[in-house]
Amino acid sequence: MLFWRIPALAPCPAAENPWPRPVQGGKQGHCSALPRWPIAFAAKTGTSGAIGLAPACTPAGEGGQKRRLRLHGCETAPFTIRLDDLGYEVAGRPVLAGITLQSSARRIGVVGRNGSGKSTLARLLAGLIAPTSGQVRIGGHDVFRDRRAALETVGILFQNPEHQIIFPRVAEEIAFGLRQQGLDKAQAAARVEAVLRSFDKPHWKDAPISALSQGQKHLVCMMAVLAMRPQLLILDEPYAGLDIPTRRQLARYLHRAGTRLLHISHEPSDLETCDELFWLDRGRIVAQGAPALLLPDFTAEMIRLGELDDIADLAG
Ligand SMILES: Nc1ncnc2c1ncn2[C@@H]1O[C@H](COP(=O)(O)OP(=O)(O)OP(=O)(O)O)[C@@H](O)[C@H]1O
Ligand SMILES: [Mg+2]
Repeated sequence: MLFWRIPALAPCPAAENPWPRPVQGGKQGHCSALPRWPIAFAAKTGTSGAIGLAPACTPAGEGGQKRRLRLHGCETAPFTIRLDDLGYEVAGRPVLAGITLQSSARRIGVVGRNGSGKSTLARLLAGLIAPTSGQVRIGGHDVFRDRRAALETVGILFQNPEHQIIFPRVAEEIAFGLRQQGLDKAQAAARVEAVLRSFDKPHWKDAPISALSQGQKHLVCMMAVLAMRPQLLILDEPYAGLDIPTRRQLARYLHRAGTRLLHISHEPSDLETCDELFWLDRGRIVAQGAPALLLPDFTAEMIRLGELDDIADLAG
């Protein structure tokens, strides 16, 4: 049996704010049937990154700092992703090392070849794994140590929707993250209906997920995470393996949602519209700048590497 904390909820005093806010304490929730624990659950709780919890009155600061209030549509300080000398090792072998960056861009890109450490970085940013060294701060929160803050801040979409999906039917899949955020059954059901309607998919509600195509499963994951309204959505190559129309449609949905994005990809065309781009190579940031400047160099380097035979190289 698995246990996790579900925040207790109280009505937000801001009259215009329809969402509840978390309060001190909490009650114990449990789940006895998560088929792909821990990957699926970690992914899911990562996707719970977000939202729904009182945009008008959720404290966005952290212990030791002056607390700031997020206001409707504006913030008193820019939302910042900050990595300080971040490192991650597996059995003493470095996968990521010395990663220091800071960005308040709305659309951040991370480009890197296979095995450069992109997915590891995505998991660190979502607080799903602990850094071996250094720190991750998303919107001022240490997202690994402060899981509750992480769940209010970061969502993630993985390359493989099978790593994210837990439940057999669409509505319960979307509802799960909302319940994690503290919405009661009726509130979650109403939000599920609303998100399905907004994607023009109300007829998907009771559809068995096993009957969906890969692209449709991606859309379920996207609806589930956007239903939770994350401040930052991390995309770990969610378009890989999808055809052009499906990629374009999913990209359009994301654009419409207007969520702050950190998009990770090895595919330069995915990242052309980012505001700021970081190039990850062998676990280190080797360059940063505008996509128009960086992507031609990245592409040239990938073509050069294509002449070599180093696919089998492992980290370290
Ligand atoms: N748990 C682990 N155990 C052993 N090695 C790992 C582990 N996690 C990551 N690595 C290694 O770290 C390196 C980076 O892996 P990661 O999955 O982060 O790369 P990536 O850039 O996402 O690759 P891809 O583009 O193929 O998805 C790889 O060499 C991988 O083998
Ligand atoms: Mg990866």
